[in-house]
Amino acid sequence: MTSVLVLNGPNLNLLGTRKPEVYGSTSLADVEKMCQKEADRLDLELVFRQSNHEGQLIDWIQEARETADGIVINAGALTHTSIAIHDALIAAELPVIEVHLSNIYRRESFRHHSFVSPVAKGVIAGLGPHGYELALEAMARLLQK
Ligand code: DQA
Repeated sequence: MTSVLVLNGPNLNLLGTRKPEVYGSTSLADVEKMCQKEADRLDLELVFRQSNHEGQLIDWIQEARETADGIVINAGALTHTSIAIHDALIAAELPVIEVHLSNIYRRESFRHHSFVSPVAKGVIAGLGPHGYELALEAMARLLQK
């Protein structure tokens, strides 16, 4: 079965309570449920993970090279800082779709640069949790080809 790793970075465990005016009121557990439903519909195996630790995220990306067919990633603030995640995603040699709940280009200028975007097939930002569903659908299509 085609397997997709959905990775969430720092502070995304606080989803629903952290700045709901920016990130909405849906919890990460609810986002996972939405993703599971969408993965079932698309006939994908879903592995959904969150960590506040850069090294843990990198370990999971390295693992994915052997165990997954694609990566959907919301790296949180590490998007804007982590060359290590950028390098790990290249080394994984898998299609990557970058997701952000908020539209990072409408926000502070330090959020306008992403180290994930140059290694991503596509970027979805600003559509809230629905962006994760769209990313899974796009990934399913990419992996069909
Ligand atoms: C985020 C945007 C980042 O700038 C921020 O640091 C996050 C969440 C988003 O999903 O909108 O933690 O990735």
